Amino acid sequence: MGISLGLVGLGAFGSTFADLFRRHPVVDRVALCDREPQRIRVFADRPDWADKFSPRDAYDSLDAICRADLDALVIITQPWLHAPQCIQAMEAGKHVYSAVPVIMTPDADEILGWCDRLIRTAERTGMSYMLGETTFYRPQTMFCRRKAAEGAFGDFVYAEGEYFHDVDAGGYTLRQVQEHRETGAAGCEWVQRKAAYRRRGVLGGPMHYPTHSTSGPVAIMNAHAVSVTAQGYRNRTGDPFFDDSAFSNETALFRMSNGAVVRICEYRECAGPFHDSETFRIMGTRGAFAENTWRSNGRRGSGVLGPDELQTLTDDAMRDPLPDDVARAWYDPAAGSVAYGGHGGSHAYLVHEFVDAVAAARLPAINAWQAVRYMAMGAVAHQSALRDGETLAVPDWGDGPAQVRRPGP
Ligand SMILES: NC(=O)c1ccc[n+]([C@@H]2O[C@H](COP(=O)([O-])OP(=O)(O)OC[C@H]3O[C@@H](n4cnc5c(N)ncnc54)[C@H](O)[C@@H]3O)[C@@H](O)[C@H]2O)c1
Repeated sequence: MGISLGLVGLGAFGSTFADLFRRHPVVDRVALCDREPQRIRVFADRPDWADKFSPRDAYDSLDAICRADLDALVIITQPWLHAPQCIQAMEAGKHVYSAVPVIMTPDADEILGWCDRLIRTAERTGMSYMLGETTFYRPQTMFCRRKAAEGAFGDFVYAEGEYFHDVDAGGYTLRQVQEHRETGAAGCEWVQRKAAYRRRGVLGGPMHYPTHSTSGPVAIMNAHAVSVTAQGYRNRTGDPFFDDSAFSNETALFRMSNGAVVRICEYRECAGPFHDSETFRIMGTRGAFAENTWRSNGRRGSGVLGPDELQTLTDDAMRDPLPDDVARAWYDPAAGSVAYGGHGGSHAYLVHEFVDAVAAARLPAINAWQAVRYMAMGAVAHQSALRDGETLAVPDWGDGPAQVRRPGP
């Protein structure tokens, strides 16, 4: 028997996941939910959706879809809504997938409070939470996780993660994205709420959207941040995009639980070729990875190096395989390959991991305990930057249960 799930939030990003979820062979039934009815119709009116979607499974609110007899909800709403909506879904007995980040508001303390409530809810309800962090399933991250599992890095010494995305770069700019997200019923409500933060003098920063840059080093090293010092760059042009931000760029240096040091950059005002670069570099005593290249010195002990290995890899060589039936269901004959979706082909893996975890009643790879690690790093880095680089402790909620047998579908 397959699973049933509801897609909540069919905007610009959520709509790119809809067909992957519907076509997954283990998904039997898909419900659709958005506060803007025309966004539901885009899929509800399509003949190829009739196999898994019934018109009675169209919902105009999270409250309504939480009452439906579905196994799971996929929440891809605006970023300030995620954590409370995911908690509501888990309280209603649904496993939940959340778009990144865990939550984004201008208030770092509030973000850390939501991290705590998310963990408590996951513990109390036994429902699964998965963060849809695209970097986790980029080919580079999959390759490095395999190398780490083999011990090929040796001891980790250093990593860099970065998300350079200038506010005006690209065809569909961050400025346009923000304008779009602040339309519609949910967007208009946020404009009011946002003004209240500003009146209180609470200003956020790019470290409140940190998961693309923090997740690579954390997931590969299997370590968490212990402390941080950070600095910010303030916009100097009076750009209204940054009215709710203390900084347009933030740079942080973390001490990790394994003794390594990690440098993270979240920049929204930067020129040059890095306009939308989401990447990491990672270095151990025996192996290192950067720019799709693996290098190993073959170290066998003090003063003893083995043959030097230098290997540049393709995306296909770095990816984990998908199960055959899933790859067949997503095969795109025009492209002659699996339709992996965006962000380095990570979308397909995110969908498969969530569906498979719900069906198998297991904890997903990017579970609540992983997710809050990526998020807390950014929130505390921002607090440090506001205090001119004061070194601050980063909270951690542990590894979570080794594996739990949860209520299945
Ligand atoms: N690489 C990545 O991981 C990546 C890339 C892009 C976007 N995102 C994330 O995806 C999320 C969505 O971004 P987007 O650009 O699609 O936004 P969007 O504004 O286009 O879509 C959000 C949708 O959620 C709906 N919604 C809000 N509250 C709702 C509720 N209570 N019930 C039902 N529907 C509700 C809105 O009506 C809207 O249609 C963001 O949080 C963003 O952070 C992640």
